[in-house]
Amino acid sequence: MMERSVQGIALKYKEKIPEEFIRSKDEQPGITTVEGAVLEVPVIDLRNPDEEKILESIVDASQKWGMFQVVNHEIPSEVISKLQQVGREFFELPEEEKEKEVYVKPVEVDHAGTLSLEGYGTKLQREVQGKKGWVDHLFHKIWPPSAVNYHFWPKNPSYREANEEYAKWVQGVGDKLLKWLSLGLGIEEEELKKALGGENLVYLTKINYYPPCPQPEVALGVVAHTDMNSITILVPNDVQGLQAYRDGLWYDVKYIPNALVIHIGDQMEILSNGRYKSVLHRTRVNKDKTRMSWPVFLEPPADLQVGPHPKLVNENNPAKYRTKKYSDYVYCKLNKIPQ
Ligand code: SIN
Ligand code: FE2
Repeated sequence: MMERSVQGIALKYKEKIPEEFIRSKDEQPGITTVEGAVLEVPVIDLRNPDEEKILESIVDASQKWGMFQVVNHEIPSEVISKLQQVGREFFELPEEEKEKEVYVKPVEVDHAGTLSLEGYGTKLQREVQGKKGWVDHLFHKIWPPSAVNYHFWPKNPSYREANEEYAKWVQGVGDKLLKWLSLGLGIEEEELKKALGGENLVYLTKINYYPPCPQPEVALGVVAHTDMNSITILVPNDVQGLQAYRDGLWYDVKYIPNALVIHIGDQMEILSNGRYKSVLHRTRVNKDKTRMSWPVFLEPPADLQVGPHPKLVNENNPAKYRTKKYSDYVYCKLNKIPQ
């Protein structure tokens, strides 16, 4: 296979996909999805005048699901459509043009366990069981300015403008969520953000690009995982594809126009000493349409130690997780070393 991206493979294999994209039976979405039952992940209206109610719903969703969607989040829809437009334009460039626009990560280093996930890449690299995900991606940091490296951003000025604008707005949502999640644990509102690095909290953005797939029932986009960061704020396009695992079964998560999808990640589960749960999720792909998503991962700086918040741990509630440097956590997770 000479193609450099899944997008290239999708153009060539119109009827049947190469063997390495066909998942084992226990992973195939065509067999393992509860059909007809779209999972009702809680939908939370952030403009609800009753802030207590917002807080209660966020806490409940974070404990029971580890996932929720927010509407009326104040990010203007033009800011989101611009973000989507420039991302789509980048992925629609021919491969050689993409390589001129942005740093292309060598396929081999993808899972090498380093922290430098940034750049344009693909899941052509094999995962466990020798299988590949039907997805290409781009990663780069958008905040704080000291962490941003434009080498990893497409050069097109409209790309930069749209992402810088989105970076401002998404922080507003991030701050609010961290505030409510803190209050929900009975600690002061700034505590979680502080424990995640305060003003050095990193916003890492990703674009997932899932080309149409001739055999969507046997392939997966992103394979089942929990996010390793604290919380994820995700914009999808309108092609259904996100799935969440609950009580042993996989469900489609309903696409809601203009909503942001929020995942609780591993660092939030750890900080809350297990009160909030990180959500196991994966994505399926579509036969005719390109699915895209724009998650932003709120991450502690690489060398920050993260563990159960000291205010939540005492004799009666011992720490359930180790405290460790975030970069060590990432290293172990990517290399499948027990934490
Ligand atoms: C992910 O959260 O890992 C990807 C989700 C998506 O594409 O909707
Ligand atoms: Fe994820």
